[in-house]
Amino acid sequence: MNDPLRVAIAGLGTVGVGVIKILEKHKDLIAERAGREIIISSVSARRKNQERGVDLSSYRWVDNAADLAGLADVDIVIELIGGEDGIAYELCQNSLKNYKSLVTANKALLAHHGAELANLAQDSNVALRFEAAVAGGIPIIKAIGEGLAANELNLVYGIINGTTNYMLSQMEATGKSYDQILEETDALGYLEADPALDLDGIDAAHKLAILSSVAFGTKTDFDNIYIEGIRHIKTIDINYAKELGFRIKLLGISKYENGTLSQRVHPVMIDRNLAIAGVMDGFNAIVVDGDFIDRTFYQGRGAGEGPTASAVVADLIDIARGHKGPAFFIPADKLTVAKPISINQRHGAYYIRLNVSDLDLAITEITTVLNDAGICPDVMLQKASQDDDSFHVIMTIYEIQEMAIKDAVYRINELSSVIETPLSIRIESL
Ligand SMILES: NC(=O)c1ccc[n+]([C@@H]2O[C@H](COP(=O)([O-])OP(=O)(O)OC[C@H]3O[C@@H](n4cnc5c(N)ncnc54)[C@H](OP(=O)(O)O)[C@@H]3O)[C@@H](O)[C@H]2O)c1
Repeated sequence: MNDPLRVAIAGLGTVGVGVIKILEKHKDLIAERAGREIIISSVSARRKNQERGVDLSSYRWVDNAADLAGLADVDIVIELIGGEDGIAYELCQNSLKNYKSLVTANKALLAHHGAELANLAQDSNVALRFEAAVAGGIPIIKAIGEGLAANELNLVYGIINGTTNYMLSQMEATGKSYDQILEETDALGYLEADPALDLDGIDAAHKLAILSSVAFGTKTDFDNIYIEGIRHIKTIDINYAKELGFRIKLLGISKYENGTLSQRVHPVMIDRNLAIAGVMDGFNAIVVDGDFIDRTFYQGRGAGEGPTASAVVADLIDIARGHKGPAFFIPADKLTVAKPISINQRHGAYYIRLNVSDLDLAITEITTVLNDAGICPDVMLQKASQDDDSFHVIMTIYEIQEMAIKDAVYRINELSSVIETPLSIRIESL
């Protein structure tokens, strides 16, 4: 058997501890599959004496994680600290510059610095791997980069944030309010330390930026992703969606066409009968379209100790086997800069929910605005609110430009009978 592969682990939280557990439990199995042993040389985290549920006594403790990049007896650095900048970024840059392969689960870092890190890996002729950064236990990076490598891809979309999928699922299953479910989700420890990453769609956007690059060979372009989270979704909208045959999901959608790239993360209403609409709770799912394979669908646990650490160790095995091809599956200097397509160019369908005081007046006023704008709703429902003596007017409008719907909603919001900011959700026929 070949010499052992020596790894250093930076970050001993949920994922770092999971990696140690797998490497210890499946030591022999991994050695067999990798063709060589994978041994932990060094570890680092913030607090040396923290109890972590694993025995660290046989591993060298390094106080400053950044120093792992310079250790002579380390072949691979595993960065599991997190954060788009700071020590994680420094460690990743220096590891690659020092000719050490790098495995990371850090989606924020890759979304912002993916192309640069890929270049560093290429210059040093080492591997950069990040299977764990997108959809945890689903091997979607390898599926796209290797399994679908014969195809031209132009569409990738999915549920890539398990926390918000859990919340939307629970709102539907229990009928409880957004705030109640948020509190319960927090108590379960499902939210990121900064909940905005989940609730405002930022975490999903980090993953979408990476998926786009892997699928389309474009440079990660986080800044041009349209991002909208789930804070404005009410349980009543989930119920109305059901009545209309839809389910609300937070999707990341990336479309590539002739050098243009549309990337967006926002709540959508989709046909309840679609496979992806049935993916509930903390699960993730991704759909990839290719010209020769048609449509493929992947589902699994998107986060948590086991699934995420499993993806990290799979990357280690890959490197141990000698695979060190380009991080985004084409040479880093061949990654292109796609022309971003704005959300304002979207043409499609919308769900609008209005809360109104005087129903008759509201219908008259709304109809006037819609007629002036040349908009004809396909569905217009009127419901008494369960909370007070107001009414809900629910509309679906098909085949309209994003700017036209925004303009109409702005005008409707000005009407005297409308007592709450209208809610609009894009309907996708994916
Ligand atoms: N958790 C998941 O399910 C999941 C899924 C996919 C991807 N990821 C990604 O995986 C990475 C790690 O996530 P996690 O959930 O394992 O995070 P975590 O539980 O918060 O652990 C972070 C670790 O980093 C250490 N750390 C923080 N600042 C440090 C510093 N300045 N120097 C050295 N060590 C430092 C912490 O040390 P102490 O323990 O001493 O405080 C801790 O061990 C992140 O990039 C995350 O986005 C996580």
